Amino acid sequence: MDQGRVERDKLVELLLQALETEIRGAAVYRAALACTRKDELRDEWQAYLEQTEDHEHILTDLCVEVGVDPTRESAGREAVRHLGRSLVEAIEHVRARGGGELAELVAAECVVIAETKDRLNWEVIGEVRERSRAASVPRSKRRTRRSRRRRTRTSTTRWAGPASSGST
Ligand SMILES: [Fe+2]
Repeated sequence: MDQGRVERDKLVELLLQALETEIRGAAVYRAALACTRKDELRDEWQAYLEQTEDHEHILTDLCVEVGVDPTRESAGREAVRHLGRSLVEAIEHVRARGGGELAELVAAECVVIAETKDRLNWEVIGEVRERSRAASVPRSKRRTRRSRRRRTRTSTTRWAGPASSGST
């Protein structure tokens, strides 16, 4: 298999897993919202739920943009789905067993687990995007762009997209 094909397959897998992470992340936030007892936390998770739904749309559009069917299945995507469903089940299980502070705590832990995968996905997407931008710049101009990027990195993120928002 040629290197270009390998890279394309990795990108497809990354996008499918990232999209599934957003879909499952939204489900985790919905389940978590049913457990929260504090207004401040409810407002925060509600905002993150809305951002997560936005991310789902962004990734769906991105898949279409690069010619990937957003409904396509893969083993990695299925694994993300299983993990996401497990998180929701864990939250619902504790809620059914009485809810209260324990359910809120379990929900918060599940949110953190979901967010961790989400952030890793966006970091990798940012790196792929950066590599792809660098590859599209003629070699003679790369040094200039690289040094300009170093100067601005302290005030901006590498990927100015959803990763900076703080939600899954
Ligand atoms: Fe997200």
